[in-house]
This record gives sequence, structure tokens and C-alpha cells, in this order.
Amino acid sequence: MSDKNFLTIALPKGKLFNLSAELLGKIGCTADGLSEKSRKLIITNEAARLKFIITKTADVPTYVEYGAADIGIIGKDVILESGKDVYELLDLGFGRCRLMMAVPQNKKRARLEDYDHTRVATKFPRIAENFFAAQGMQMEYIKLNGSIELGPLIGLSESIVDIVETGTTLRENNLIELVTIMDATARLIANRVSYKLKFERINFIVDALSKQLNRA
Ligand code: PRP
Repeated sequence: MSDKNFLTIALPKGKLFNLSAELLGKIGCTADGLSEKSRKLIITNEAARLKFIITKTADVPTYVEYGAADIGIIGKDVILESGKDVYELLDLGFGRCRLMMAVPQNKKRARLEDYDHTRVATKFPRIAENFFAAQGMQMEYIKLNGSIELGPLIGLSESIVDIVETGTTLRENNLIELVTIMDATARLIANRVSYKLKFERINFIVDALSKQLNRA
């Protein structure tokens, strides 16, 4: 478990980092040197008894589930994909994106079912499998860790399941969205035990963030 005298907050590198740090800063949760570029892995604010850890996006739910971090900020898509047992406290509203299935424009098949038994490249095999199973479809999942859009362009897969935010990556690679699987935003999550043991501190943060979000 994390240090009982400190509240440990896990923040993801990448697109959510700046918005997360900025929002927490507005409620006084910050630390000198808190930056995505920091090579220091734990950034401490002794006076406020806060510790920040900056992790790979996909690892935030793991740190929180095991209690290495008491709370964290991460996308709903990543929480679902991780399958981790964490307590979701607040929808923070930012980082809005959607998880969808996309295919090459020039090879688009008429119906979703026409992709049954084909290969799909994705960073989200768990969510993808749940989705396709619910449609009665059996797919072959190829797990990639980034640049998913490359998959169908070079014949690795017939489709992708990936995040779309602005749609630029799809457009630039001549892919089109076939079906939306889910919408996602950033969430504040907590370790279940920490939430009980550090209830006052965590609840104070939840209240302050809620007020801040309502003000925006
Ligand atoms: C995400 C996602 C898409 C892109 C979508 O990738 O996997 O590639 O963003 O954004 P857009 O609709 O605004 O173009 P990310 O930049 O996180 O990198 P990675 O998937 O290559 O790791």
C-alpha cells in the first residue's frame, strides 16, 4: 500500500496529463516540478502530503488497484480495457473521445457482419471482443501498442478498433469509421481500501473537483 501519511496520485503520460495536472492545480493539488517531462518518477509535495507518480497510460488502473496509488486520473476506455477493480469517483468530462471500428475506405464492406471471422488490430482487445461477441461475431484480435491505423494499410488486419478524437488520423490514412463502440472521458478513480482509509482527504478532492467542474 502507499504511504499512509501521504495521498498518492497517479497521472498518465500523454494526452490527459496536462489537463489532469491543470485541474488538480486549480484545487491546490500540485507539486514543484510536476511535469510530464520529469525524469523523476515520484514528485512529492511534503507540505501538502501529496505524492504524484507519472505512469504509462495503460498502467494507471494497475497502480490504483494494488493501492500503490490511492487515486488516479485515466480514461474510461483504459479502465474498461484493464479489467481492474477500481472505484470510479467522478467523470471529469475532458479527454472526450470514442472507441470505434474503422476500415479502409476503398475496401469498405456493406455490413458489419461482413467482417465476421476477419482480423482486427487494436490496443483494446478486451473491449473489442466484448463488442463483437455481443454482435455474434468471432474475430481474430491482433494486439498492437500504438499506430493502430497502420494495421489495415499494410494488410495486417481488415479493420481496427481504436480511439478517435479529432478524426485526423483516420482521414490522413483513408480509413472510415464503421461503427462506434463507446464514448469515453477521463475519470477520477480510487483504490477501494484507500477510499475507506483516506476517506476525508479523497472526498475533499472529489468535492473540490466537482465544484471546479461545475464552475467551468
Ligand atoms: C490515439 C489513437 C489514434 C489517435 C486519434 O493515438 O490511437 O491513433 O490518437 O486521434 P485523432 O482522431 O485526433 O487523430 P495516440 O496519439 O494516443 O498514439 P498511439 O495510439 O500511436 O499510441
